[in-house]
Amino acid sequence: MPFDTIQDENRDVSRRGFLKGALLGGAALTMSSKLAMAEQMMTGRVSVRDIRSAGLKPGQVDLSLNENPNGASLHAIQAMADHLTTVNRYTRDSGDLRESLIDALAAYDRVEFEKVKPERGSRRPPPTPYIFSYSGSSEFLRLLPMAYLSREGGDVVDAEGAYSSIRRAALSISEELGVPVNATSVPLTEDYRHDLDGMLKAITPKTKIVVITNPNNPTGTLLSFEEIERFVNAVPKEVIIVIDEAYIHFGRDLNYQRAMPLAMTNDNVIVIRTFSKAYGMAAMRVGYAVCSQAIQQKLSFYMTTGFPPVLPLVAVEATAKDLYHLRQSQQVVWAFQDRCYEEFDKLGLEYIPGSGSFFMVNVRQNGTDFARELLRRRIKVAVRNRDLMPTWIRVSAGTAPETEVFLAEFKKLLSNM
Ligand SMILES: Cc1ncc(COP(=O)(O)O)c(C=O)c1O
Repeated sequence: MPFDTIQDENRDVSRRGFLKGALLGGAALTMSSKLAMAEQMMTGRVSVRDIRSAGLKPGQVDLSLNENPNGASLHAIQAMADHLTTVNRYTRDSGDLRESLIDALAAYDRVEFEKVKPERGSRRPPPTPYIFSYSGSSEFLRLLPMAYLSREGGDVVDAEGAYSSIRRAALSISEELGVPVNATSVPLTEDYRHDLDGMLKAITPKTKIVVITNPNNPTGTLLSFEEIERFVNAVPKEVIIVIDEAYIHFGRDLNYQRAMPLAMTNDNVIVIRTFSKAYGMAAMRVGYAVCSQAIQQKLSFYMTTGFPPVLPLVAVEATAKDLYHLRQSQQVVWAFQDRCYEEFDKLGLEYIPGSGSFFMVNVRQNGTDFARELLRRRIKVAVRNRDLMPTWIRVSAGTAPETEVFLAEFKKLLSNM
């Protein structure tokens, strides 16, 4: 069956549609057994053994890595399949692909950039604010401290209880190269958000990099554009401000203003994105960033090349244009969150209704032990901020069947422990 046809069958994005879609994606079941399974899911009687998740062995429920349970865009899979037979060649049409990819990404953020014509005879692509990595967005998080700290060291400011790649890379640079690095992690506010005023106060004359993870991982909290803009205006211009928007696609406010324009107008701001989450392409390892030529020049010295290999490239170009897949992925995440919050409200549990593809919930007992017990039942969740939030677990979005299985085991475990 051509991919388009499969996709059209799933076009209804209601909760019921998703149940049906999930079932259609599974084994070749008869309609009556599909309905029976839907009924079981709604009543929590489907078991881990029944689960068939894209990219996992049967009977596994992995809600620990913030992966996309919706799978990859079918157009992206088709694009890779189409290019499988040409992998003996270097990419001939990479210029066109690059342009089309950047156009799609710029359209998503409703930003425009000045298009410069390539110089005659130049093999370099014309400059744009976009750069791409092919070790995921993690590559930028590792290379930024390398680019700005490896010579003389310097200070890094981030939020305590946030994604810590830059801090960890900075500290290992200090260890390896013997340069002085001081990392200050400013505690989150009481409502688990970045304390931007506190972070501002933590900046010293030695500070080289400040990191904002928005939405935050693992708390999922989201800062407004205005808050970030005020922060950017207050930070000295020689300090690099990293805004990691790995989960920015999962916020529900359609009018939310993302930080991209700040990266296009401030030489010291870099906005980092990934194709691993909303686009469902974690194994393709493609990330992108928008920043000034000055930051690009620093980073590109450490990068092998500015562009991903052909299969990841055709895949992300196709997925960047597949807004239907993106919407579907958002809907899966929101349905998962709503369903879990509904149950947590009934149970009187505290949770953080975040804007990522996950949430944190307070299980009112040791979170590590709780996660271990869930794992024994073949459901994997994460424990983050173990010291700061010892009774909390982080749960990444699952499909409708995975959600029901998680909730059933979660409730059993809560009442046992
Ligand atoms: C906040 C944040 N940034 C960046 C990454 C890195 O993602 P990738 O290297 O797959 O692009 C992750 C991965 O989970 C993340 O949670």
